[in-house]
Amino acid sequence: MTKVIKNGTIVTADLTYKADVLIDGGKIVEIGPDLTGDEVLDATGCYVMPGGIDPHVHLEMPFMGTYSSDDFESGTRAALAGGTTMVVDFCLPSPGQGLLDGLQMWDNKSTRAACDYSFHMAITWWSEQVFNEMEQVVKERGINTFKHFLAYKGALMVNDDELFASFNRCAELGAIPLVHAENGDVVAELSTKLLAQGNTGPEAHAYSRPTQVEGEATNRAIMLADMAGVPLYVVHTSCEEAHEAIRRARQQGKRVWGEPLIQHLTLDESEYFNADWDHAARRVMSPPFRNKQHQDSLWAGLQSGSLSVVATDHCAFTTDQKRFGVGDFTKIPNGTGGLEDRIPMLWTYGVGTGRLTPQEFVAVTSTNIAKILNVYPKKGAILVGADADIVVLDPEKEKTITASKQQSAIDYNVFEGKHVKGLPRFTLTRGQVAVRDGEMHHEVGHGQFVKREPSGPVSKALSSWKELTAPRPVERTGIPATGV
Ligand code: URP
Ligand code: ZN
Ligand code: ZN
Repeated sequence: MTKVIKNGTIVTADLTYKADVLIDGGKIVEIGPDLTGDEVLDATGCYVMPGGIDPHVHLEMPFMGTYSSDDFESGTRAALAGGTTMVVDFCLPSPGQGLLDGLQMWDNKSTRAACDYSFHMAITWWSEQVFNEMEQVVKERGINTFKHFLAYKGALMVNDDELFASFNRCAELGAIPLVHAENGDVVAELSTKLLAQGNTGPEAHAYSRPTQVEGEATNRAIMLADMAGVPLYVVHTSCEEAHEAIRRARQQGKRVWGEPLIQHLTLDESEYFNADWDHAARRVMSPPFRNKQHQDSLWAGLQSGSLSVVATDHCAFTTDQKRFGVGDFTKIPNGTGGLEDRIPMLWTYGVGTGRLTPQEFVAVTSTNIAKILNVYPKKGAILVGADADIVVLDPEKEKTITASKQQSAIDYNVFEGKHVKGLPRFTLTRGQVAVRDGEMHHEVGHGQFVKREPSGPVSKALSSWKELTAPRPVERTGIPATGV
Protein backbone atom coordinates (compact mmCIF):
# COMPACT_ATOMS: atom_id res chain seq x y z
CA MET A 1 0.00 0.00 0.00
CA THR A 2 1.42 3.39 -0.99
CA LYS A 3 1.19 6.61 0.99
CA VAL A 4 1.46 10.14 -0.30
CA ILE A 5 2.29 13.24 1.74
CA LYS A 6 0.45 16.02 -0.05
CA ASN A 7 0.45 19.83 -0.10
CA GLY A 8 3.46 20.29 2.20
CA THR A 9 6.67 22.26 1.83
CA ILE A 10 9.72 20.01 1.69
CA VAL A 11 12.67 21.32 3.69
CA THR A 12 16.04 19.62 3.43
CA ALA A 13 19.46 20.85 4.49
CA ASP A 14 19.85 22.37 0.99
CA LEU A 15 16.43 23.19 -0.44
CA THR A 16 12.94 24.40 0.38
CA TYR A 17 10.22 23.68 -2.21
CA LYS A 18 6.64 22.57 -2.60
CA ALA A 19 6.12 18.96 -3.68
CA ASP A 20 4.35 15.75 -2.72
CA VAL A 21 6.21 12.67 -1.48
CA LEU A 22 5.19 9.15 -2.52
CA ILE A 23 6.16 6.28 -0.23
CA ASP A 24 6.18 2.58 -0.97
CA GLY A 25 7.78 -0.31 0.89
CA GLY A 26 9.21 2.01 3.55
CA LYS A 27 11.11 4.11 0.99
CA ILE A 28 10.57 7.38 -0.80
CA VAL A 29 9.80 6.39 -4.40
CA GLU A 30 8.78 9.69 -6.01
CA ILE A 31 8.87 13.41 -5.26
CA GLY A 32 6.89 15.85 -7.39
CA PRO A 33 3.62 17.67 -8.00
CA ASP A 34 0.16 16.08 -7.93
CA LEU A 35 1.17 12.59 -6.80
CA THR A 36 -1.45 10.04 -5.82
CA GLY A 37 -1.29 7.10 -3.41
CA ASP A 38 -3.52 4.66 -1.52
CA GLU A 39 -3.41 6.77 1.63
CA VAL A 40 -3.15 10.54 1.68
CA LEU A 41 -1.41 12.36 4.55
CA ASP A 42 -2.39 16.01 4.36
CA ALA A 43 0.58 18.30 5.03
CA THR A 44 -1.14 21.60 4.20
CA GLY A 45 0.65 24.40 6.08
CA CYS A 46 3.39 21.99 7.21
CA TYR A 47 7.08 21.40 6.60
CA VAL A 48 8.05 17.92 5.35
CA MET A 49 11.51 17.22 6.71
CA PRO A 50 13.88 14.28 7.25
CA GLY A 51 13.04 12.65 10.59
CA GLY A 52 15.31 13.72 13.40
CA ILE A 53 18.37 11.64 14.23
CA ASP A 54 19.50 11.75 17.84
CA PRO A 55 23.06 10.42 17.91
CA HIS A 56 23.40 10.48 21.68
CA VAL A 57 21.01 8.49 23.88
CA HIS A 58 21.45 6.09 26.80
CA LEU A 59 18.50 3.69 27.05
CA GLU A 60 18.39 1.24 29.95
CA MET A 61 22.05 1.95 30.57
CA PRO A 62 23.82 0.53 33.64
CA PHE A 63 25.31 3.62 35.26
CA MET A 64 26.20 4.82 38.76
CA GLY A 65 24.69 1.82 40.52
CA THR A 66 21.40 1.84 38.62
CA TYR A 67 19.91 1.78 35.12
CA SER A 68 18.61 4.75 33.15
CA SER A 69 14.83 4.49 33.25
CA ASP A 70 13.81 4.75 29.61
CA ASP A 71 14.30 1.48 27.77
CA PHE A 72 14.26 0.96 24.02
CA GLU A 73 10.47 0.89 24.05
CA SER A 74 9.69 4.06 26.03
CA GLY A 75 12.77 5.83 24.68
CA THR A 76 11.97 5.27 21.01
CA ARG A 77 8.29 6.05 21.66
CA ALA A 78 9.40 9.39 23.11
CA ALA A 79 11.68 9.90 20.10
CA LEU A 80 8.86 9.34 17.60
CA ALA A 81 6.42 11.52 19.56
CA GLY A 82 8.91 14.34 19.13
CA GLY A 83 9.71 13.76 15.44
CA THR A 84 12.92 11.77 15.88
CA THR A 85 13.09 8.63 13.75
CA MET A 86 16.54 7.24 14.51
CA VAL A 87 18.55 7.08 17.73
CA VAL A 88 22.13 6.02 18.38
CA ASP A 89 22.70 4.40 21.76
CA PHE A 90 26.02 3.67 23.45
CA CYS A 91 27.00 0.04 23.94
CA LEU A 92 28.87 0.27 27.22
CA PRO A 93 30.84 -2.86 28.12
CA SER A 94 32.01 -2.56 31.71
CA PRO A 95 35.77 -2.49 32.25
CA GLY A 96 37.01 -6.05 31.82
CA GLN A 97 34.11 -7.06 29.57
CA GLY A 98 34.62 -7.84 25.88
CA LEU A 99 33.09 -5.60 23.23
CA LEU A 100 31.20 -8.43 21.54
CA ASP A 101 29.88 -9.62 24.88
CA GLY A 102 28.63 -6.09 25.55
CA LEU A 103 27.01 -5.96 22.12
CA GLN A 104 25.08 -9.13 22.88
CA MET A 105 23.50 -7.35 25.86
CA TRP A 106 22.61 -4.32 23.73
CA ASP A 107 21.19 -6.55 20.97
CA ASN A 108 18.89 -8.17 23.53
CA LYS A 109 17.70 -4.84 24.93
CA SER A 110 16.99 -3.20 21.61
CA THR A 111 14.50 -5.71 20.18
CA ARG A 112 11.58 -3.55 21.39
CA ALA A 113 12.69 -0.39 19.58
CA ALA A 114 9.91 1.34 17.66
CA CYS A 115 12.24 3.34 15.41
CA ASP A 116 15.53 2.53 13.73
CA TYR A 117 18.67 2.68 15.83
CA SER A 118 22.38 2.10 15.81
CA PHE A 119 25.11 1.84 18.44
CA HIS A 120 28.35 3.56 19.26
CA MET A 121 30.82 1.23 21.00
CA ALA A 122 32.42 2.53 24.21
CA ILE A 123 36.05 1.78 25.00
CA THR A 124 36.14 1.64 28.81
CA TRP A 125 39.39 -0.33 29.20
CA TRP A 126 42.30 -1.31 26.97
CA SER A 127 43.54 -4.82 26.26
CA GLU A 128 44.50 -7.17 23.44
CA GLN A 129 40.89 -8.43 23.44
CA VAL A 130 39.49 -4.91 23.00
CA PHE A 131 42.07 -4.13 20.30
CA ASN A 132 41.15 -7.28 18.34
CA GLU A 133 37.41 -6.99 18.79
CA MET A 134 37.38 -3.40 17.49
CA GLU A 135 38.04 -4.84 14.04
CA GLN A 136 35.04 -7.18 14.29
CA VAL A 137 32.85 -4.39 15.63
CA VAL A 138 33.60 -2.31 12.54
CA LYS A 139 33.75 -4.97 9.84
CA GLU A 140 31.15 -7.47 11.01
CA ARG A 141 28.76 -5.45 13.14
CA GLY A 142 28.65 -2.20 11.14
CA ILE A 143 29.60 0.12 13.99
CA ASN A 144 32.00 2.85 12.88
CA THR A 145 32.18 5.00 16.03
CA PHE A 146 33.99 4.40 19.34
CA LYS A 147 33.24 6.43 22.47
CA HIS A 148 35.82 7.38 25.10
CA PHE A 149 35.07 8.87 28.51
CA LEU A 150 37.73 11.27 29.78
CA ALA A 151 35.57 11.65 32.91
CA TYR A 152 34.02 9.24 35.45
CA LYS A 153 37.35 8.32 37.05
CA GLY A 154 37.43 4.82 38.52
CA ALA A 155 34.47 3.72 36.42
CA LEU A 156 34.46 4.46 32.70
CA MET A 157 37.39 6.86 32.31
CA VAL A 158 40.32 5.94 30.07
CA ASN A 159 43.82 7.34 30.50
CA ASP A 160 45.70 9.22 27.80
CA ASP A 161 47.83 6.24 26.75
CA GLU A 162 44.70 4.13 26.31
CA LEU A 163 42.96 6.97 24.50
CA PHE A 164 45.84 7.46 22.10
CA ALA A 165 46.11 3.72 21.42
CA SER A 166 42.39 3.53 20.70
CA PHE A 167 42.54 6.62 18.46
CA ASN A 168 45.31 4.97 16.45
CA ARG A 169 43.22 1.82 16.12
CA CYS A 170 40.22 3.90 14.98
CA ALA A 171 42.43 5.56 12.36
CA GLU A 172 43.43 2.27 10.77
CA LEU A 173 39.85 0.91 10.90
CA GLY A 174 38.35 3.99 9.24
CA ALA A 175 36.30 4.60 12.39
CA ILE A 176 35.53 7.87 14.19
CA PRO A 177 36.35 8.28 17.89
CA LEU A 178 33.92 10.15 20.14
CA VAL A 179 34.93 11.78 23.40
CA HIS A 180 33.14 12.85 26.55
CA ALA A 181 35.63 15.64 27.19
CA GLU A 182 35.97 16.52 30.86
CA ASN A 183 39.17 16.07 32.86
CA GLY A 184 38.11 13.25 35.19
CA ASP A 185 41.16 13.55 37.47
CA VAL A 186 40.43 17.21 38.18
CA VAL A 187 36.70 16.56 38.64
CA ALA A 188 37.54 13.86 41.20
CA GLU A 189 39.88 16.24 43.07
CA LEU A 190 37.37 19.08 43.13
CA SER A 191 34.56 16.74 44.19
CA THR A 192 36.55 15.42 47.15
CA LYS A 193 37.40 18.96 48.21
CA LEU A 194 33.80 20.17 47.92
CA LEU A 195 32.50 17.24 49.96
CA ALA A 196 35.18 17.81 52.62
CA GLN A 197 34.02 21.44 52.86
CA GLY A 198 30.46 20.26 53.46
CA ASN A 199 29.15 21.04 49.98
CA THR A 200 27.02 17.95 49.49
CA GLY A 201 24.04 19.31 47.49
CA PRO A 202 23.39 19.06 43.75
CA GLU A 203 24.70 22.58 43.07
CA ALA A 204 28.17 21.29 44.05
CA HIS A 205 28.03 19.03 41.00
CA ALA A 206 28.22 22.18 38.87
CA TYR A 207 31.11 23.58 40.97
CA SER A 208 33.01 20.31 40.51
CA ARG A 209 32.92 20.61 36.72
CA PRO A 210 33.92 24.16 35.73
CA THR A 211 34.21 24.97 32.05
CA GLN A 212 38.03 24.69 32.19
CA VAL A 213 37.84 20.93 32.79
CA GLU A 214 35.88 20.65 29.58
CA GLY A 215 38.09 23.04 27.65
CA GLU A 216 41.26 21.23 28.71
CA ALA A 217 39.94 17.79 27.81
CA THR A 218 38.54 18.96 24.48
CA ASN A 219 41.89 20.51 23.52
CA ARG A 220 43.74 17.38 24.64
CA ALA A 221 41.48 15.04 22.68
CA ILE A 222 41.78 17.20 19.55
CA MET A 223 45.59 17.16 19.77
CA LEU A 224 45.73 13.40 20.35
CA ALA A 225 43.33 12.78 17.47
CA ASP A 226 45.48 14.99 15.25
CA MET A 227 48.59 13.01 16.19
CA ALA A 228 46.75 9.76 15.47
CA GLY A 229 45.51 11.14 12.14
CA VAL A 230 41.85 10.50 12.92
CA PRO A 231 38.75 12.73 12.90
CA LEU A 232 37.07 13.47 16.23
CA TYR A 233 33.48 13.92 17.39
CA VAL A 234 33.09 15.76 20.70
CA VAL A 235 29.83 14.89 22.47
CA HIS A 236 27.82 17.31 24.61
CA THR A 237 29.90 20.44 23.95
CA SER A 238 28.58 22.84 26.57
CA CYS A 239 30.91 25.84 26.85
CA GLU A 240 32.93 28.43 24.98
CA GLU A 241 36.30 26.89 25.96
CA ALA A 242 35.39 23.59 24.30
CA HIS A 243 33.69 25.32 21.39
CA GLU A 244 36.76 27.50 20.88
CA ALA A 245 39.00 24.44 20.63
CA ILE A 246 36.66 22.85 18.09
CA ARG A 247 36.33 26.09 16.12
CA ARG A 248 40.11 26.50 15.95
CA ALA A 249 40.64 22.90 14.91
CA ARG A 250 38.09 23.20 12.12
CA GLN A 251 39.67 26.45 10.96
CA GLN A 252 42.96 24.56 10.72
CA GLY A 253 41.32 21.98 8.48
CA LYS A 254 40.92 19.26 11.09
CA ARG A 255 37.83 17.09 10.86
CA VAL A 256 36.42 17.79 14.31
CA TRP A 257 32.72 18.03 15.10
CA GLY A 258 30.99 19.45 18.18
CA GLU A 259 27.60 18.37 19.48
CA PRO A 260 25.72 20.79 21.74
CA LEU A 261 22.66 19.44 23.55
CA ILE A 262 19.22 21.02 23.49
CA GLN A 263 19.42 21.18 27.30
CA HIS A 264 22.62 23.27 27.28
CA LEU A 265 21.18 25.55 24.60
CA THR A 266 17.98 26.33 26.49
CA LEU A 267 18.53 25.76 30.24
CA ASP A 268 21.16 27.53 32.31
CA GLU A 269 23.00 27.09 35.61
CA SER A 270 20.36 29.00 37.58
CA GLU A 271 18.45 25.70 37.57
CA TYR A 272 20.92 24.48 40.25
CA PHE A 273 20.84 27.53 42.48
CA ASN A 274 17.95 28.85 44.58
CA ALA A 275 16.15 25.62 43.75
CA ASP A 276 14.93 22.80 45.95
CA TRP A 277 17.00 19.62 46.12
CA ASP A 278 14.83 17.58 43.77
CA HIS A 279 14.64 20.33 41.15
CA ALA A 280 18.41 20.73 41.06
CA ALA A 281 19.21 17.00 41.27
CA ARG A 282 16.88 16.20 38.38
CA ARG A 283 19.03 18.52 36.28
CA VAL A 284 22.38 17.05 37.34
CA MET A 285 24.20 15.97 34.24
CA SER A 286 27.74 16.13 32.92
CA PRO A 287 28.74 18.62 31.77
CA PRO A 288 26.38 20.71 33.91
CA PHE A 289 24.22 23.56 32.62
CA ARG A 290 26.26 26.74 32.02
CA ASN A 291 25.65 30.48 32.08
CA LYS A 292 24.11 32.62 29.32
CA GLN A 293 27.48 33.54 27.73
CA HIS A 294 28.19 29.89 27.08
CA GLN A 295 24.70 29.41 25.68
CA ASP A 296 25.28 32.32 23.29
CA SER A 297 28.53 30.70 22.19
CA LEU A 298 26.72 27.44 21.39
CA TRP A 299 24.01 29.21 19.39
CA ALA A 300 26.68 31.15 17.49
CA GLY A 301 28.43 27.86 16.71
CA LEU A 302 25.27 26.40 15.22
CA GLN A 303 24.70 29.55 13.18
CA SER A 304 28.23 29.73 11.83
CA GLY A 305 28.68 25.99 11.33
CA SER A 306 31.50 25.53 13.86
CA LEU A 307 29.12 23.24 15.81
CA SER A 308 27.40 20.59 13.77
CA VAL A 309 24.75 18.55 15.56
CA VAL A 310 22.11 19.08 18.27
CA ALA A 311 21.54 15.97 20.40
CA THR A 312 19.97 15.17 23.79
CA ASP A 313 22.26 12.72 25.63
CA HIS A 314 18.90 11.34 26.79
CA CYS A 315 19.75 9.48 30.02
CA ALA A 316 16.66 9.68 32.18
CA PHE A 317 16.55 8.87 35.89
CA THR A 318 13.49 9.09 38.15
CA THR A 319 13.39 11.36 41.19
CA ASP A 320 13.82 8.29 43.42
CA GLN A 321 16.98 7.37 41.51
CA LYS A 322 18.27 10.95 41.79
CA ARG A 323 17.75 10.71 45.58
CA PHE A 324 20.55 8.11 45.78
CA GLY A 325 22.68 11.25 46.07
CA VAL A 326 21.05 12.86 49.11
CA GLY A 327 23.99 13.83 51.32
CA ASP A 328 26.59 13.25 48.56
CA PHE A 329 26.18 14.92 45.17
CA THR A 330 28.67 12.51 43.56
CA LYS A 331 26.10 9.74 43.94
CA ILE A 332 23.33 11.53 42.04
CA PRO A 333 22.98 9.59 38.76
CA ASN A 334 24.15 11.92 36.00
CA GLY A 335 21.75 12.51 33.16
CA THR A 336 18.60 14.23 31.92
CA GLY A 337 15.86 13.48 29.39
CA GLY A 338 15.03 15.36 26.21
CA LEU A 339 14.31 12.92 23.37
CA GLU A 340 10.68 13.94 22.97
CA ASP A 341 11.43 17.65 23.24
CA ARG A 342 14.55 18.19 21.11
CA ILE A 343 12.76 18.96 17.84
CA PRO A 344 9.98 21.21 19.25
CA MET A 345 12.42 23.00 21.59
CA LEU A 346 15.00 23.65 18.86
CA TRP A 347 12.31 24.74 16.42
CA THR A 348 10.84 27.12 19.00
CA TYR A 349 14.11 28.53 20.40
CA GLY A 350 16.10 28.25 17.16
CA VAL A 351 13.83 28.81 14.15
CA GLY A 352 11.11 30.62 16.11
CA THR A 353 13.61 33.24 17.31
CA GLY A 354 15.33 33.64 13.93
CA ARG A 355 18.59 32.11 15.15
CA LEU A 356 18.34 29.22 12.68
CA THR A 357 16.74 28.89 9.28
CA PRO A 358 14.52 25.85 8.68
CA GLN A 359 17.28 24.39 6.46
CA GLU A 360 19.90 24.89 9.16
CA PHE A 361 17.48 23.22 11.56
CA VAL A 362 17.31 20.14 9.30
CA ALA A 363 21.10 20.12 8.99
CA VAL A 364 21.73 20.09 12.75
CA THR A 365 18.91 17.72 13.73
CA SER A 366 19.35 15.14 10.96
CA THR A 367 21.46 15.57 7.83
CA ASN A 368 24.83 16.51 9.32
CA ILE A 369 24.89 13.55 11.67
CA ALA A 370 23.65 11.20 8.93
CA LYS A 371 26.71 12.22 6.93
CA ILE A 372 29.11 11.94 9.88
CA LEU A 373 27.77 8.48 10.78
CA ASN A 374 27.91 7.45 7.11
CA VAL A 375 24.20 6.62 6.78
CA TYR A 376 23.36 9.43 4.34
CA PRO A 377 21.23 9.41 2.17
CA LYS A 378 19.49 6.30 3.56
CA LYS A 379 18.80 8.55 6.56
CA GLY A 380 18.72 12.34 6.89
CA ALA A 381 17.37 12.97 3.39
CA ILE A 382 14.15 13.55 1.45
CA LEU A 383 15.33 11.90 -1.74
CA VAL A 384 14.08 9.10 -3.95
CA GLY A 385 15.53 5.88 -2.53
CA ALA A 386 15.92 7.20 1.02
CA ASP A 387 14.12 5.55 3.93
CA ALA A 388 10.76 7.22 4.51
CA ASP A 389 11.79 8.52 7.94
CA ILE A 390 9.92 11.79 7.84
CA VAL A 391 8.55 14.40 10.21
CA VAL A 392 5.67 16.55 8.98
CA LEU A 393 6.02 19.54 11.25
CA ASP A 394 3.11 21.90 11.82
CA PRO A 395 4.63 25.31 12.70
CA GLU A 396 1.32 26.50 14.18
CA LYS A 397 0.70 23.58 16.51
CA GLU A 398 1.68 24.42 20.09
CA LYS A 399 1.75 22.97 23.58
CA THR A 400 3.18 23.50 27.02
CA ILE A 401 5.63 20.74 27.91
CA THR A 402 4.58 18.72 30.92
CA ALA A 403 5.71 15.42 32.39
CA SER A 404 2.11 14.30 32.84
CA LYS A 405 1.71 13.99 29.06
CA GLN A 406 5.14 12.69 28.05
CA GLN A 407 6.10 9.27 26.71
CA SER A 408 9.29 9.00 28.77
CA ALA A 409 9.05 6.73 31.81
CA ILE A 410 10.30 9.30 34.32
CA ASP A 411 8.18 11.43 36.67
CA TYR A 412 9.34 14.93 35.64
CA ASN A 413 10.59 16.86 32.63
CA VAL A 414 13.47 19.33 32.74
CA PHE A 415 11.55 21.51 30.24
CA GLU A 416 8.36 21.50 32.34
CA GLY A 417 6.29 24.61 31.61
CA LYS A 418 8.13 25.61 28.42
CA HIS A 419 5.75 26.63 25.67
CA VAL A 420 6.72 25.22 22.28
CA LYS A 421 5.32 26.03 18.85
CA GLY A 422 6.14 23.61 16.02
CA LEU A 423 5.05 20.02 16.60
CA PRO A 424 4.79 16.89 14.46
CA ARG A 425 1.49 16.40 12.64
CA PHE A 426 2.88 13.06 11.43
CA THR A 427 6.04 11.14 12.22
CA LEU A 428 6.83 8.31 9.80
CA THR A 429 9.35 5.58 10.47
CA ARG A 430 10.24 3.73 7.27
CA GLY A 431 6.83 4.66 5.88
CA GLN A 432 4.83 3.61 8.93
CA VAL A 433 2.83 6.43 10.53
CA ALA A 434 3.90 6.30 14.18
CA VAL A 435 2.40 9.66 15.21
CA ARG A 436 -0.79 11.16 13.80
CA ASP A 437 -2.02 14.46 15.21
CA GLY A 438 -0.43 13.86 18.59
CA GLU A 439 -1.65 10.26 18.89
CA MET A 440 0.78 7.37 19.06
CA HIS A 441 0.40 4.57 16.48
CA HIS A 442 3.92 3.17 16.78
CA GLU A 443 4.73 -0.52 16.66
CA VAL A 444 6.98 -2.02 19.33
CA GLY A 445 9.77 -3.94 17.58
CA HIS A 446 9.42 -2.10 14.26
CA GLY A 447 12.86 -0.53 14.71
CA GLN A 448 15.78 -2.05 12.82
CA PHE A 449 19.48 -1.88 13.55
CA VAL A 450 21.22 0.38 11.02
CA LYS A 451 24.63 -0.92 9.97
CA ARG A 452 27.22 1.69 9.16
CA GLU A 453 30.21 1.26 6.88
CA PRO A 454 33.60 2.65 7.98
CA SER A 455 33.72 6.41 7.48
CA GLY A 456 37.27 6.47 6.16
CA PRO A 457 39.60 4.08 4.34
CA VAL A 458 40.53 0.91 6.24
CA SER A 459 44.29 0.22 6.30
CA LYS A 460 45.31 -2.67 4.06
CA ALA A 461 47.72 -3.97 6.68
CA LEU A 462 46.33 -3.51 10.17
CA SER A 463 48.82 -3.18 13.02
CA SER A 464 49.28 -5.88 15.62
CA TRP A 465 48.68 -5.60 19.36
CA LYS A 466 51.27 -3.74 21.44
CA GLU A 467 51.16 -3.58 25.23
CA LEU A 468 51.16 -0.06 26.71
CA THR A 469 54.34 1.01 28.54
CA ALA A 470 52.62 1.04 31.93
CA PRO A 471 49.22 -0.63 31.50
CA ARG A 472 46.43 0.20 33.97
CA PRO A 473 45.28 -2.88 35.87
CA VAL A 474 41.58 -3.40 35.19
CA GLU A 475 39.30 -5.54 37.26
CA ARG A 476 35.94 -6.56 35.97
CA THR A 477 33.63 -4.15 37.77
CA GLY A 478 30.16 -5.06 36.50
CA ILE A 479 27.83 -2.07 36.71
CA PRO A 480 29.94 1.07 37.08
CA ALA A 481 29.30 2.15 40.63
CA THR A 482 30.65 5.69 40.86
CA GLY A 483 30.36 8.78 38.80
CA VAL A 484 33.25 11.05 39.59
O1 URP B 1 25.34 13.27 32.62
C1 URP B 1 25.36 12.60 31.59
N1 URP B 1 25.75 13.18 30.48
N2 URP B 1 24.96 11.31 31.62
C2 URP B 1 24.99 10.38 30.59
C3 URP B 1 26.33 9.76 30.42
C4 URP B 1 27.24 10.68 29.67
O2 URP B 1 28.18 11.20 30.25
O3 URP B 1 27.03 10.92 28.49
ZN1 ZN C 1 29.04 11.98 28.48
ZN1 ZN D 1 25.98 10.53 27.05
